[in-house]
Amino acid sequence: MTNLNTLVPDMKISVKQIFGIDTEMKVDGFSKKNEYVPEVDTNYKFDRDTTLAIISGFAYNKRVLIQGYHGTGKSTHIEQVAARLNWPCVRVNLDSHISRIDLIGKDAIVIKDSKQVTEFKEGILPWSIQNPVALVFDEYDAEDQMLCL
Ligand SMILES: Nc1ncnc2c1ncn2[C@@H]1O[C@H](COP(=O)(O)OP(=O)(O)OP(=O)(O)O)[C@@H](O)[C@H]1O
Ligand SMILES: [Mg+2]
Repeated sequence: MTNLNTLVPDMKISVKQIFGIDTEMKVDGFSKKNEYVPEVDTNYKFDRDTTLAIISGFAYNKRVLIQGYHGTGKSTHIEQVAARLNWPCVRVNLDSHISRIDLIGKDAIVIKDSKQVTEFKEGILPWSIQNPVALVFDEYDAEDQMLCL
């Protein structure tokens, strides 16, 4: 996982201008894309309330829970908001045997100064906290109960 530490939001984006929602709200965004920014779907239709909830997550660094019927656009809605703001966004599917090691990290043996040492390799959760990235826990209801997030 690339270190995005030096990446900071460098522009304020008008919610009215980009999403066509009647509000004076502005949200932090980036002027440049990187490998973690989803592709824009130009045909995407932004539902007002859901879009504002997702944007609040980006604006105030808050967790947002999205629920709804299958195929109603939960997963893609987050990605499409991220795509418009150039926010890095990573989707973790919790229905695909994600383990605590993947999320938190693990001890790994590495070679340092020609010596074998044990080093903690961070998982996706500490990475996402230290970098400007929206982490999507998708299919949350299918999560393995043993994970106990
Ligand atoms: N508002 C929308 N505008 C345009 N396309 C949409 C919209 N909502 C959903 N879609 C399209 O519908 C499909 C299903 O969307 P998505 O996978 O985000 O739904 P979901 O709610 O996450 O479904 P699931 O519950 O199965 O995970 C995608 O191809 C997506 O691009
Ligand atoms: Mg989905």
